[in-house]
Amino acid sequence: MLQQAPMMQNKASWWQTATAYQIYPRSFCDSNGDGIGDIPGIISKLDHLRDLGIGFVWLSPVFASPMADNGYDISDYRDIAPEFGTLADMDQLIAEARARGIGIVMDLVVNHTSDEHAWFQDARASRSSTFRDFYVWRDPAPDGGYPNDLQSHFGGPAWTLDEATGQYYLHLFDRKQPDLNWENPEVRKAVYEMMNWWFDRGIAGFRMDVIDLIAKEVDRGITADGPRLHDYLQEMHRETLAGRDVVTVGEAWSANLGNALLYSGRNRGELSMVFQFSHITAFLDPVHGKWKARPVDLRQLKGILNAWQKALAEDGWNSLFWSNHDLPRAVSTYGDDGEGRIASAKMLATVLHLMRGTPYIYQGEEIGMTNMTFDDISQFNDVEIRNNFTLQQDLGLSAAEFLAGANANGRDNARTPMQWTAGEAAGFTTGTPWLAVNPNHTEINVAADRANPKGIFEHYRKLARLRSDLPIISFGDYNAFAEDHPAVFAYARTLGPDRLAVVANFTGEQVAFDVPEGLAIAGRSLIASDAPRSGLSGRILLAPYEAFAILKD
Ligand code: GLC
Ligand code: CA
Repeated sequence: MLQQAPMMQNKASWWQTATAYQIYPRSFCDSNGDGIGDIPGIISKLDHLRDLGIGFVWLSPVFASPMADNGYDISDYRDIAPEFGTLADMDQLIAEARARGIGIVMDLVVNHTSDEHAWFQDARASRSSTFRDFYVWRDPAPDGGYPNDLQSHFGGPAWTLDEATGQYYLHLFDRKQPDLNWENPEVRKAVYEMMNWWFDRGIAGFRMDVIDLIAKEVDRGITADGPRLHDYLQEMHRETLAGRDVVTVGEAWSANLGNALLYSGRNRGELSMVFQFSHITAFLDPVHGKWKARPVDLRQLKGILNAWQKALAEDGWNSLFWSNHDLPRAVSTYGDDGEGRIASAKMLATVLHLMRGTPYIYQGEEIGMTNMTFDDISQFNDVEIRNNFTLQQDLGLSAAEFLAGANANGRDNARTPMQWTAGEAAGFTTGTPWLAVNPNHTEINVAADRANPKGIFEHYRKLARLRSDLPIISFGDYNAFAEDHPAVFAYARTLGPDRLAVVANFTGEQVAFDVPEGLAIAGRSLIASDAPRSGLSGRILLAPYEAFAILKD
C-alpha cells in the first residue's frame, strides 16, 4: 500500500518531487547555423524535456558576456548574450517551458562580474569612482608584487595589477572575472534588485554559482565559507526569496557534513538545497588535483553518499548529481563508456535517482553521452584547461600526462555538443560547431536512444515518473546496506508501512551477493536495468552493472 501524502512536519515543496535537468546553452541546440547553441534552439527541444518528465531546468548563464568563461563572466545581468538570443526569446522560453510544467532556473553568478561589466569599467576608471568599492582593490606589496599569495581557482595569482590606477584587483577565477565586494551594501542591494527583476519575469529560481565564496576576508586569506556568508544569504532571502515559491540551489565546493544544514536547514531562511562536491573532491590528486586522474573507489564513494543521506535526513535537502558542465561524463567516470555503456548508465541513474534529494540530469546524460578524446591541447576551448596546461607542467606533470588528465576530467568533456542525431554535426547545428562534436554521435544520439525501449532515456523517464508518483522516493528514510562490499551499492527506503530496496552492481563482472538481513524484500519490480526482479533474499547473482528496485507488496 502506498502512502498518499508524505508524512512531514512541513508541507512538501514542488522541487522535492521534481527531477532537474541542466542545460549548457552553448552546446544544447543551435537554431541559426552559427555553430553556437541558443535560446530558440532550447525552445525547439522543450518537448524532449517534457517527455523526460523534467520539473525544472537549471540553465547555465545566458546573460550578456564576453565569454571568457563561456558566460560565467557577465557584463550585463539584465540582458541576454546576442549569440544566445534576446530578452524576448528568454521570456518566450520561460512561458513555453511553463506551459509544459517546467520551471526555468537561471544561473546567478554574483561572486564576480566580467571585467567588461559597466560597474568594473567605471570602477577601474579612477580610484574615486562611485563603483570603485564594488570590487576588491589592494595596494601592491612594498616590493610592488602581489598584495598576498591568494591563488585563482583557474591557476596562477588571484590578483591583477590595474596599471592606470596602480592597485591590484582580486579575481578568484580568470583575470576577466573580477570579484565583487559583498561587504559593500550597495553591491548586495544591486544584486537583490536584479534577482527580483528576474523573478518578476517568471523564473522558477536560481542556481547560485560559487555562492560559498561571496563572503571573503581577503586580508586574512579567507575566501570560502567566510564569517558573514550566512548573514548575506539570510539577507538575500529576506530581500528576494521570502514569499516566493521558488527553488534555490547553492553551488558550494567547501560545504561539508558539518555546515551543510546552515545553507539548507528548513527554518534558516537561506537556500532550498546545497550542491556540494564531497564525492568528487575525495578522488582528486593531492598535488595535481583533477589533472592527474585517480580511479574511483566504490567503498569510499558509497561512504560519502551514504553519509550525506544521513546528515540531511531530518532537515536540509541534498542535490543529487554525477555530472555537470564542470565535470567529466558520468558514464565515463563511474561506469563503462565501452561495451557496458547502456547498462552502466542505467545503473548509475537508478542508484542516484532513488536517493533522497533532488536529482540533476546533465544534458546528454539521459542518452549516456561519454567523454571525448582530445588528441592535442589546441583542441580544448576551456579557460581552466588552457591556464593549467603550463602551470601543471611547472608542477611536474608532462604534457602527455596533462593531456590524459584533461581527457579524463577536463570540463570540455561535458561541453561537446548535444548529440541529437547520427547525422552531420549530430543534428546540433547546420554550421560548424564551436567545439567539436564527439565522433561517437553516429552511435550515441537522442534519436537512436529514444527509439530503443530498453534505452537510457526510457530508464530516466521512468525514474522521473516514479519520483513524482511515489512519496517514498522523495521523503522516505534512507538506510545503507553492505557498506563494505567492494562491488555492490545497496540501500533501503521506508515511509510509514512502505518499503523499497535498491541494489546495484557497480562492476562489469557478474557478482554473487549475499543479501544482508534487513534488506531482504518481496514485492513488485519498480524498475530494473536488466530483467525485472520481485524478490530479494539469500544469495543472488547480479549481472554486470545490473541495478533494480523492488517495492514491498
Ligand atoms: C562555477 C561554475 C564554473 C565557473 C566558475 C566561475 O564553479 O560552475 O563553470 O567557471 O564557477 O564562475
Ligand atoms: Ca546559434
